[in-house]
Amino acid sequence: MMNEGTAPDKKQIETLIDTALEQRSLAYAPYSGYRVGAALLASDGKIYTGCNIENAAYTPTICAERTAFFKAVSEGVRDFEAICITGGSGETPAGYSAPCGVCRQVMREFCDPQTFLIILAIGRENYDMYTLEQLLPMSFGPENLDL
Ligand code: THU
Repeated sequence: MMNEGTAPDKKQIETLIDTALEQRSLAYAPYSGYRVGAALLASDGKIYTGCNIENAAYTPTICAERTAFFKAVSEGVRDFEAICITGGSGETPAGYSAPCGVCRQVMREFCDPQTFLIILAIGRENYDMYTLEQLLPMSFGPENLDL
Protein backbone atom coordinates (compact mmCIF):
# COMPACT_ATOMS: atom_id res chain seq x y z
CA MET A 1 0.00 0.00 0.00
CA MET A 2 1.20 3.51 -0.75
CA ASN A 3 0.42 6.61 1.33
CA GLU A 4 -3.08 7.99 1.02
CA GLY A 5 -4.29 11.00 -0.93
CA THR A 6 -1.06 12.73 -1.90
CA ALA A 7 0.96 12.99 -5.08
CA PRO A 8 3.47 10.15 -5.36
CA ASP A 9 7.07 10.80 -4.26
CA LYS A 10 10.17 9.51 -6.07
CA LYS A 11 10.13 6.10 -4.35
CA GLN A 12 6.44 5.63 -5.08
CA ILE A 13 6.99 6.64 -8.70
CA GLU A 14 9.67 3.94 -8.92
CA THR A 15 7.20 1.39 -7.55
CA LEU A 16 4.63 2.45 -10.14
CA ILE A 17 7.24 2.17 -12.91
CA ASP A 18 8.37 -1.28 -11.75
CA THR A 19 4.74 -2.41 -11.52
CA ALA A 20 3.88 -1.12 -15.01
CA LEU A 21 6.96 -2.82 -16.49
CA GLU A 22 6.04 -6.10 -14.78
CA GLN A 23 2.48 -5.82 -15.97
CA ARG A 24 3.65 -5.23 -19.53
CA SER A 25 4.96 -8.81 -19.61
CA LEU A 26 1.35 -9.98 -19.25
CA ALA A 27 0.10 -8.01 -22.28
CA TYR A 28 -1.78 -10.09 -24.83
CA ALA A 29 -0.81 -8.46 -28.13
CA PRO A 30 -0.34 -11.16 -30.79
CA TYR A 31 -1.66 -8.92 -33.60
CA SER A 32 0.18 -5.63 -33.11
CA GLY A 33 3.13 -6.92 -31.11
CA TYR A 34 2.89 -3.63 -29.18
CA ARG A 35 2.79 -4.43 -25.48
CA VAL A 36 1.64 -1.94 -22.86
CA GLY A 37 1.62 -2.09 -19.07
CA ALA A 38 -0.09 0.30 -16.68
CA ALA A 39 -0.07 0.86 -12.92
CA LEU A 40 -2.88 3.02 -11.57
CA LEU A 41 -2.49 4.56 -8.11
CA ALA A 42 -5.79 5.00 -6.28
CA SER A 43 -6.21 7.64 -3.56
CA ASP A 44 -6.45 4.91 -0.91
CA GLY A 45 -2.90 3.86 -1.82
CA LYS A 46 -3.78 0.71 -3.72
CA ILE A 47 -2.29 0.03 -7.14
CA TYR A 48 -4.46 -1.40 -9.93
CA THR A 49 -2.64 -2.98 -12.84
CA GLY A 50 -3.56 -3.27 -16.50
CA CYS A 51 -2.20 -4.55 -19.78
CA ASN A 52 -3.53 -4.37 -23.32
CA ILE A 53 -5.63 -7.34 -24.38
CA GLU A 54 -6.10 -7.79 -28.12
CA ASN A 55 -8.67 -9.82 -30.02
CA ALA A 56 -8.82 -11.66 -33.36
CA ALA A 57 -11.80 -9.49 -34.27
CA TYR A 58 -9.57 -6.45 -33.54
CA THR A 59 -12.20 -3.97 -32.25
CA PRO A 60 -12.77 -5.73 -28.89
CA THR A 61 -9.14 -4.88 -28.03
CA ILE A 62 -8.72 -2.93 -24.81
CA CYS A 63 -5.82 -0.72 -23.82
CA ALA A 64 -3.72 -1.24 -20.70
CA GLU A 65 -4.94 2.01 -19.14
CA ARG A 66 -8.62 1.18 -19.46
CA THR A 67 -8.02 -2.34 -18.16
CA ALA A 68 -6.57 -0.79 -15.00
CA PHE A 69 -9.34 1.80 -14.64
CA PHE A 70 -12.14 -0.69 -15.20
CA LYS A 71 -10.64 -3.15 -12.72
CA ALA A 72 -10.59 -0.42 -10.08
CA VAL A 73 -14.00 1.11 -10.82
CA SER A 74 -15.60 -2.34 -10.92
CA GLU A 75 -14.33 -2.83 -7.37
CA GLY A 76 -15.91 0.43 -6.20
CA VAL A 77 -12.79 2.61 -6.42
CA ARG A 78 -13.24 5.98 -8.12
CA ASP A 79 -10.53 8.24 -6.72
CA PHE A 80 -7.13 8.23 -8.33
CA GLU A 81 -3.79 10.03 -8.05
CA ALA A 82 -1.64 8.85 -10.94
CA ILE A 83 -1.10 6.27 -13.66
CA CYS A 84 2.20 4.99 -14.99
CA ILE A 85 2.27 3.71 -18.57
CA THR A 86 5.03 1.84 -20.35
CA GLY A 87 4.85 0.27 -23.77
CA GLY A 88 6.52 -0.55 -27.05
CA SER A 89 7.18 -3.18 -29.67
CA GLY A 90 10.57 -4.35 -28.47
CA GLU A 91 11.62 -6.53 -25.58
CA THR A 92 11.99 -3.38 -23.47
CA PRO A 93 10.28 -0.04 -24.22
CA ALA A 94 12.36 2.22 -26.48
CA GLY A 95 10.29 5.38 -26.07
CA TYR A 96 7.30 6.81 -24.28
CA SER A 97 3.91 5.25 -24.87
CA ALA A 98 1.34 8.02 -24.50
CA PRO A 99 -2.29 7.14 -23.75
CA CYS A 100 -4.73 7.10 -26.68
CA GLY A 101 -7.57 9.61 -26.82
CA VAL A 102 -10.17 7.14 -25.61
CA CYS A 103 -8.11 6.31 -22.52
CA ARG A 104 -7.56 10.02 -21.80
CA GLN A 105 -11.33 10.48 -21.90
CA VAL A 106 -11.86 7.58 -19.48
CA MET A 107 -9.34 9.20 -17.12
CA ARG A 108 -11.29 12.46 -17.44
CA GLU A 109 -14.42 10.75 -16.14
CA PHE A 110 -12.85 9.87 -12.79
CA CYS A 111 -9.85 12.16 -12.31
CA ASP A 112 -9.20 15.83 -11.62
CA PRO A 113 -7.49 17.08 -14.81
CA GLN A 114 -5.36 19.56 -12.84
CA THR A 115 -3.88 17.08 -10.38
CA PHE A 116 -4.06 13.60 -11.90
CA LEU A 117 -0.57 12.62 -13.03
CA ILE A 118 0.26 10.59 -16.11
CA ILE A 119 3.74 9.11 -15.82
CA LEU A 120 5.22 7.99 -19.14
CA ALA A 121 8.10 5.65 -18.40
CA ILE A 122 10.84 3.76 -20.17
CA GLY A 123 12.53 2.75 -16.92
CA ARG A 124 13.21 3.89 -13.35
CA GLU A 125 15.56 6.65 -14.41
CA ASN A 126 13.78 7.54 -17.59
CA TYR A 127 10.30 9.00 -17.26
CA ASP A 128 8.24 12.18 -17.65
CA MET A 129 5.10 13.34 -15.87
CA TYR A 130 2.15 15.28 -17.20
CA THR A 131 -1.15 16.35 -15.73
CA LEU A 132 -4.26 15.04 -17.43
CA GLU A 133 -5.07 18.64 -18.35
CA GLN A 134 -1.80 18.88 -20.27
CA LEU A 135 -2.63 15.79 -22.31
CA LEU A 136 -6.34 16.54 -22.67
CA PRO A 137 -6.88 20.32 -22.77
CA MET A 138 -10.34 21.91 -22.99
CA SER A 139 -11.88 18.58 -22.12
CA PHE A 140 -15.48 17.46 -21.84
CA GLY A 141 -16.40 15.84 -18.55
CA PRO A 142 -19.25 14.95 -16.20
CA GLU A 143 -19.76 18.60 -15.10
CA ASN A 144 -20.62 19.61 -18.65
CA LEU A 145 -23.84 17.64 -18.43
CA ASP A 146 -24.96 19.82 -15.49
CA LEU A 147 -24.85 23.01 -17.57
N1 THU B 1 -2.58 0.51 -26.61
C1 THU B 1 -2.67 0.63 -25.25
O1 THU B 1 -2.69 -0.38 -24.52
N2 THU B 1 -2.75 1.87 -24.71
C2 THU B 1 -2.78 3.02 -25.45
O2 THU B 1 -3.05 4.08 -24.91
C3 THU B 1 -2.46 2.96 -26.87
C4 THU B 1 -2.57 1.63 -27.51
C5 THU B 1 -2.54 -0.83 -27.19
C6 THU B 1 -3.78 -1.20 -27.95
C7 THU B 1 -3.25 -2.22 -28.92
O3 THU B 1 -3.29 -3.50 -28.31
C8 THU B 1 -1.81 -1.84 -29.14
O4 THU B 1 -1.49 -0.93 -28.09
C9 THU B 1 -1.54 -1.18 -30.47
O5 THU B 1 -2.40 -0.13 -30.69
